[in-house]
Parts: sequence; structure tokens; C-alpha cells
Amino acid sequence: MEEKINWILKRRSIRKFLDKPVEEEKIDLLMKAAMAAPSASNRQPWHFIVVTERDKLDQLSEIHPYAKMLKEATLCVVVCGDPEEATSKNSGLSYWVQDCSAAMQNLLLAVTSLDLGGVWLGVHPNEEREKIIKDFLKIPNRIRPLGLAAIGYPDEEKEANTHYKKERVHREIFEG
Ligand SMILES: Cc1cc2nc3c(=O)[nH]c(=O)nc-3n(C[C@H](O)[C@H](O)[C@H](O)COP(=O)(O)O)c2cc1C
Repeated sequence: MEEKINWILKRRSIRKFLDKPVEEEKIDLLMKAAMAAPSASNRQPWHFIVVTERDKLDQLSEIHPYAKMLKEATLCVVVCGDPEEATSKNSGLSYWVQDCSAAMQNLLLAVTSLDLGGVWLGVHPNEEREKIIKDFLKIPNRIRPLGLAAIGYPDEEKEANTHYKKERVHREIFEG
């Protein structure tokens, strides 16, 4: 049975990339996978900025403090959300962070299944980082950048995920 989830366990953060562009067909599939994510009240409040220009990738690697791998990555997808569009009329709550995180995870899983590699680079809730990314990519005021995905053909191999901890699973109630 476990082999059925092997492709999920295979997802690891990849930070070394070959100098090989990601084909447009694969970029389309990544966008399709991202937008297949679950979303509260099915609002789908996301936007994606696809960056492939070398100069922009290099500059992104400089303005984000933990994004040096963008100097090698050939693709960066910026996952953004529209908090207002995500706000429920009934509760007044906005689930844009949850919706966009689900989209980001779908994207990273699709990256793995298309023999690419990638890593999530956090932006929200760091307000300073949000502002820098918004200014650089001319993101309208109402839209918030959740995070970046640095993507490309992998130039490193990692073991499948070993994060599983049995003691973190609680049955029926938390105690016991
Ligand atoms: C919200 C979030 C923000 C992250 N930000 C960064 C980042 O800025 N730079 C980076 O190299 N990795 C970043 N990561 C990747 C984590 O470091 C990585 O997922 C973790 O070490 C577990 O490794 P794995 O993805 O290979 O299982 C981030 C991951 C998440 C979920």
C-alpha cells in the first residue's frame, strides 16, 4: 500500500538546480495542479506570478534573505492571495492563507511528480518581505504574496521524507 503515497514522500526541498529551463507545458501543468487545491467556500482567491527571466530571478535571490538558490533556479512561482475575495460574508473570516498554502503544496507535489525540484520560500506573515516582493513585482495593494516557489531541474538528490513520528498521532482524544 505504501507505494501509493511514495510520490508524496518523495517531495523534499531542492535547492540546487541544473541550467535547464522548465518547459511551458510543465509550467501549465504546475498551474493546473496549484489551482486544483481545496479552498474555503470554494473562493479560489489565488493569483500566481510566473517568473522565468534570468535577471528577475537573480534580483529575487538578492531581495529575499533565504533565496540564494534562485540564482540557479530557472523558474519562480509567486503564490499570492486576495484576502477580500476570500472573506466569507457570513463569518467575516478570510481563509486566504490556508487556501494559498494548499495551492503551494499542490504546486510542490506536482513539481516532484514532473521530475522537477523545488522549495517553498516564506514571505507572509513577514510584512517587510511582503512589501519588498510587492514593490519588486508590482503586485496591487489588495493582493498579498504568501510565498515563492523556487523551481527547476534538480541537481541534488535527497532521501524520501522521514518526518513521520508515531507519537504525534493521537487517537480519539489528545491524551493517552
Ligand atoms: C512556510 C515555509 C517557509 C519556508 N521558507 C524557506 C526559505 O525561506 N528558504 C528555504 O531555503 N527553505 C524554506 N522552507 C523549506 C523548509 O526549510 C523545508 O520544508 C524543511 O526544512 C523540511 O525539509 P523538506 O521540505 O525537504 O522535507 C520553507 C518551508 C515552509 C513550509
